[in-house]
Amino acid sequence: MALPTINPTTTNAWRKLQAHFKTIEHVHLKTLFSQHENRANDMTINWEDFYLDYSKHRVSEETMTLLLELADEVGLKSAMNKYFEGDIINQTEGREVLHTALRNPKNAVVNVQGQNVMEDIYAVKAKINEFSNQVINGHLKGYTHQSFTDVVNIGIGGSDLGPAMVVEALGYYKNQLQTHFVSNVDGDHVHEVLKTLNPETTLFVIVSKTFTTQETLSNATTIRHWFLKHAPKSAVSKHFVAVSTNIEKVKAFGIDENNIFPMWNWVGGRFSLWSAVGLSISLAVGFENFNLLLQGAHKMDEHFKTEDFDKNIPVITALLSVWYNNFFHSESEAVIPYSQYLNQFATYLQQGIMESNGKSIDRNGDKINYQTGTIIWGEPGTNAQHAFFQLIHQGTKLIPAEFIGFAKSLHGDQDHQDKLMSNFFAQTEALMNGKTKQEVIDELKAQGLSESDIATLTPFKIFDGNKPTTTLLIDKLTPESLGKLIAMYEHRIFVQGIVWNIFSYDQFGVELGKQLANTILEELQNENVINNHDGSTSNLIKYYKSQR
Ligand code: F6P
Repeated sequence: MALPTINPTTTNAWRKLQAHFKTIEHVHLKTLFSQHENRANDMTINWEDFYLDYSKHRVSEETMTLLLELADEVGLKSAMNKYFEGDIINQTEGREVLHTALRNPKNAVVNVQGQNVMEDIYAVKAKINEFSNQVINGHLKGYTHQSFTDVVNIGIGGSDLGPAMVVEALGYYKNQLQTHFVSNVDGDHVHEVLKTLNPETTLFVIVSKTFTTQETLSNATTIRHWFLKHAPKSAVSKHFVAVSTNIEKVKAFGIDENNIFPMWNWVGGRFSLWSAVGLSISLAVGFENFNLLLQGAHKMDEHFKTEDFDKNIPVITALLSVWYNNFFHSESEAVIPYSQYLNQFATYLQQGIMESNGKSIDRNGDKINYQTGTIIWGEPGTNAQHAFFQLIHQGTKLIPAEFIGFAKSLHGDQDHQDKLMSNFFAQTEALMNGKTKQEVIDELKAQGLSESDIATLTPFKIFDGNKPTTTLLIDKLTPESLGKLIAMYEHRIFVQGIVWNIFSYDQFGVELGKQLANTILEELQNENVINNHDGSTSNLIKYYKSQR
């Protein structure tokens, strides 16, 4: 039943990888290309509308063989079966991990405690479909009988980042509804959003799996007060809906039972955009597009489940990440989508990747003595090039970077698209090849610089290259391809968690700060309460109280 508990560093493959690493550590990518004639083709996976090129990685065929051996030795295949079949792989919370079931076809069978959950999933999908259609076509009206113009998603973490990222990513497919996201407990966030809204034509979607989250409940309460300044109490049921597992708490908040879109404990917050948490996506782009997103994710699920590991996109990319994290000791990885629509993609991935795999206790309950969770960050290209690429090209840190691009643009401006994509290709080429001392000297000579100027400037203009990149070229940004892309990262998170022997689906690390904030809030709002803190925290609280 339980996941394997193999310390990866005790496997044969790990030992072989360590020895192998010493032989390849300083080998330049240019050499790897010269040693392997068909490298660019051999290290490419062409699947559906995805073209994944990992040949610009500091790996040889032997590296890949050993990484695949590692995947076998840690029991990846049997762990995958447990993941898809609904075993309780979130052992520390006693839960199944079944976001994949949300994108299954209707006739699939997925049992949770002996019950097939597909019927419930499709009942909620039908409710999302019906509700989205009614709002979009204007049949559902607010308390003054006007159609809705604006939708506000109130949620945080997984109840915000997924929908917010997808709504922006699918901006091209959006309908007339304006979509807003309120997440931060910073009151300036909610008030800034509210000042643009008309209560008569705004629909509020409160999204909280637990319905206990301070930020979401505070924002929802503030919004309801604002709403009731304009509207009668009876109007609340027309303007507020909720997505949650906690039906009782939602009802206690004053939301009509009919206005609740249920979700389930077997869907983790950061993997929940496929559930009713995606209601604002369905409202923004229509249910058909929401469904295409789910279908794309399902295709990736099938690819992951059935493809041999050596041609399996989530498996290969996860193992490459392990290679850099644990052998090169890279501190972070960058994700650079060459699409402005994917502006929030890295932010979204940060929760998925870092909340899942930022763990230091293994599945035996023991402290880990190797590196786990990667730090992920990024911004769309070409903006990123003008911000932090200097450090990737010439800094001291090794930062594997993933380039995601689309062959076709959505608005069809070919001139812009070619400029964008020329940068996309040029960057990975430059990162790999760099610029040699001789090339720099020749270039400066051609510019007519003096011998002494050339000597002074040359060291600064050399690029070592040998910076690893993945290139993922996708045909076009569509709901379906976006679904595939997100699911690819979800499965990668799973694979890395299995290799690192950690539990990827809990998030106890976010609890302590929440607990302490509650204690401090009591002090901030009640003069008579003074709790014990360290000197620094006490001073800061005192100073804040004197200044606010
Ligand atoms: O940040 C911790 C966390 O529990 C996330 O995992 C989750 O996505 C977020 O808070 C929001 O939780 P909820 O949907 O229960 O409000």
